[in-house]
Formats: sequence, C-alpha cells, structure tokens
Amino acid sequence: MSAVDSQTDMTDANRVTIFDTTLRDGEQSPGCSMNLEEKLQVADALEDMGVDIIEAGFPIASNGDFEAVREIGKRLKTSSVAGLARATRRDIDRAWDALKTAGRPRIHTFISTSPLHMKFKLQMEPDAVHQAVIDSVSHARDLCDDVEWSPEDGTRTEHDFLCRCVESAIKAGARTINIPDTVGYTVPAEFRALIEMLRNRVPNIDKAVISVHCHNDLGLAVANSLAAVEAGARQVECTINGIGERAGNAAMEEIVMALRTRRDAMPFTTGVKSQAITRASRLVSAITGFSVQPNKAIVGANAFAHESGIHQDGFLKHSETYEIMTPESVGLNRSTLVMGKHSGRHAFKVKLAEMGYGDLSDNAIQGAFQRFKDLADLKKDVYDEDILALIDDVVVRHNDHLRFVSLQVVCGTKGPQTAELEMTIDGEQKHAKAEGNGPVDAVFTAIKEIFPHEVKLQLYQVHAVTEGTDAQAEVTVRLEEDGRTVNGQGADVDTLVASARAYVNALNKLLVKREKSAPAALSA
Ligand code: KIV
Ligand code: ZN
Repeated sequence: MSAVDSQTDMTDANRVTIFDTTLRDGEQSPGCSMNLEEKLQVADALEDMGVDIIEAGFPIASNGDFEAVREIGKRLKTSSVAGLARATRRDIDRAWDALKTAGRPRIHTFISTSPLHMKFKLQMEPDAVHQAVIDSVSHARDLCDDVEWSPEDGTRTEHDFLCRCVESAIKAGARTINIPDTVGYTVPAEFRALIEMLRNRVPNIDKAVISVHCHNDLGLAVANSLAAVEAGARQVECTINGIGERAGNAAMEEIVMALRTRRDAMPFTTGVKSQAITRASRLVSAITGFSVQPNKAIVGANAFAHESGIHQDGFLKHSETYEIMTPESVGLNRSTLVMGKHSGRHAFKVKLAEMGYGDLSDNAIQGAFQRFKDLADLKKDVYDEDILALIDDVVVRHNDHLRFVSLQVVCGTKGPQTAELEMTIDGEQKHAKAEGNGPVDAVFTAIKEIFPHEVKLQLYQVHAVTEGTDAQAEVTVRLEEDGRTVNGQGADVDTLVASARAYVNALNKLLVKREKSAPAALSA
C-alpha cells in the first residue's frame, strides 16, 4: 500500500466516503443486467478495492435484486451494503428484509422533491411529500441505524423546500443526506453553491454527512461531484466505468484518481486502493458487455499510450513530461513475464497473480490455462490483453445456462456458407448445421436452431484485442427482445468463434433478464 492509500483515516475531516452504485444505478441501465454470481464477483472486487458503501440493488424491484442485496449483505465484511427503497412502508420493509442479515446494512430511501416530479410523476402536493419524507425516514430508522435519504431531482428543487425536507429528514434520523443531480442538469459552480446553501441554511446539517449523486448527461458528473466535495460534501456516489442510466453516473475511477493526482489542489482522500481500478473496470466491462471507449480517462486502452513522435520523445526523456499518473497507480502493470506456447501452468499462475487475479479457484485457473494453451498454439506472442480477454471469457461466464463448445464454418466465394455448431444447454450436448447469408448469419442461425428465440440483432461489432493479423478478435453483440436489451462479448483468434461466443453470452444475459421482472416504474 502506498503512502497515499494509507492516508484514509475515517475520522479525517477531509476523508471522502466512496459509495458505489454500479450494482444498482449501473445495473439499471439498458443492457447492463447481471446475474447473482456476477453481482457477487463485482461486490467482492469493490470490497477488495476499499469501497466504503456498495449499493447492491433495489429489493422491491425484483426477486433478483432482493436476493442480490441479501447475499451481498451477508457476504461482505468491511464495506457497508445499501438497499434502495421508495418512500413507502412496503419498499422500506422489503429493503430491510433483504438487509437484516447484513454485517453493515444501510437503507437508502428517496422521494422526488422538484416541482416537475411532484406534479407529474408523484401527483402529490409538496406538504404530502414533506410528510412522506418524515414518515419514510422515521420508519427506516426504526429498522436500521444507518439511513440515507435522497431528494430525487434535487438540483431542480426549490431551495426553501429542499432545506425544509433535508432538515426534517435529519430530524427523523437520516445520517446521510444525498443530493442527486438526477437528470445531469447542473454545472459545477451552481452545484457548489447548492451544497454551500444547504450547509448555511439547514440548522442541523452538521448531524449528517452530505453526499452527492451526479448523472452525466452533460458530461459534467465528475466535475460536479468534485465541486460538491470542495463545498463540503463528504460522500460521492459513483459507478465503475461511469455506467448508469442514460449517459451514466460519475465514474469512480475518475473521482478517485482526480483526488489522488491533484491532492495539491483538492486536499481530500478516499479509502480506494487505486491499483485495483483496472481490474474492476475490466470485470464490469466483461460482465455487462459494455466496452470502455479507448480514450476514456483512467481506464481506456489509450489512457497511458503515447503515439505522437514528440510525445514519445518527451516521455522517454522524462515520463512526467506527458504522464500525470503512472499506469501502475491504476493497476496497469508493465509486464515482467512474456507468455508463449512454452509457458507452463506455474508461469501462467504467476502471470495471473501479477495481473491481479491471484485469488481465482483451481477450476477457473485450469479452464483459463487450457484456453491460454490453445491460444499460444495459434499465436506467437500472448500479450496481457489476450490473457485478460480469455479470463473474461472463461472465468466470468462459468455459470451460464448456454455454453459454446465448438464451431466449424465453410465460407468464401463459392458458397453456400454453412456453420456446424456444438453447444450445451444446462449441460446437455446439442448440435446443429445451418446455412446463412454469409458466415456470421450461418453461425447465428445455427445457434437459433439449437436454442429457438425471437430477438432483434441491434449491434454486431468486432475489434482486435492487440495488433497483428493473428490478434484475437473481440466481438460485441447487442440483442433486443420486447424492449429489453443485452450486450454479449466473446474473444477468440477466430472472428467467427468469437461471434458465436458473444451471441451465446448475450442469450445468457437475456435469460437473466427474462427471469427478472423489472417494471420501468421501479427504476430510480
Ligand atoms: O439519480 C437519482 O436520483 C437516483 C436516486 C435514487 C438517488 O438514482
Ligand atoms: Zn441515479
């Protein structure tokens, strides 16, 4: 642990609590659903990286969310686990049912307070909303010591009413007051002034921690969150890779690294071990099928790449000429072990540990090692990116109902293009042969014969994991069924095999979505 990471005393007035909502607000965004096993993996990664509070779901929204909150709550030791609830007894009781066995439970309850939301969404008068704040927070506090309250659409709420509700929520027992910029509308100076206004005008504000929850519709979520911290907020709500409703939430990796890198300008600390950022980012991307854009700050593939001659020259003379933080500080290690077809199981295990995967089960390592050997037979140099792509493929998906086994394709100008496919459905071997308009169509048609379904293919995208003609292809497939969208990913040196893996991965996600009944009215 570096000196920077050890400066995280919770009693420190400049310590910012990190509240991660990847599993709730993040998971809520179209195409991002995760099954229980996947949520547990993300929760473990978040706890390992030192996240203070993990919002694990919205228990009343679905049985899947309920179960995830309950299981994550029981499992985690150091992170608090929050469950979301609207301002009704039913929601709050359901949240508590999921949380009561947790080591560190938190109920997070919310109601809209802006004129627009109260009139059109809630169809309630302000006085009734104010009473609901008191009733809901009091009820939550009767059940749980740690209660957070949020005025939804807080940044478009009238100041007098916001102050009145915040004061009452604190009186009723809320320990954290979270101000959401629900629609990503505010700008840094305005948000800073809003937090300052609350600190100046709400008489009991010192009895609660001020939190902020910013959406990224104008690309300002991180800037707004940091402005709020400067104004006195001491909890920031965020997600890995910035996933979330619409344009997403504030990206955790950007908040953590901005505070770490610019301690001179913003003297605040977090408890997050920044070296765990890359691994968490890749895990969330692999599970959700949401690739990270190459130029994304901190975790994009190009975030530490130097292409222009002038930059390379300066960088080689002194790295700080063009690098304000090191790749190592976010867990992107310069490799010490080069892997190839002569590398054995031991070297592979050491490599995995070097890349932050030292805790994989023997079974998972065996599966990944087998795929690595197959890959090394086809490809001279196996890069870290290749290994990460196959770990995503093997480790993250070991609980799937549908599994790809093998594929043989005939393609080229002499047609017809045919695909012969083997898959398993819940362990049962299946086989199909299909023709198509091109090899990809033949592969997808063969999958359809084995597992009949009606979906719309919204996106089919291929990119090379590394350079060279022998690079692995990473394919993303987006499917839509009855308004539900899912993304699947697959990697292989054979683009058609990667396509089949991606399609099967998307279908597995669709099965999770079908199980999960999440009416739109229950998203927050
Ligand atoms: O964006 C929002 O307002 C929310 C609340 C439930 C905190 O997600
Ligand atoms: Zn939100």
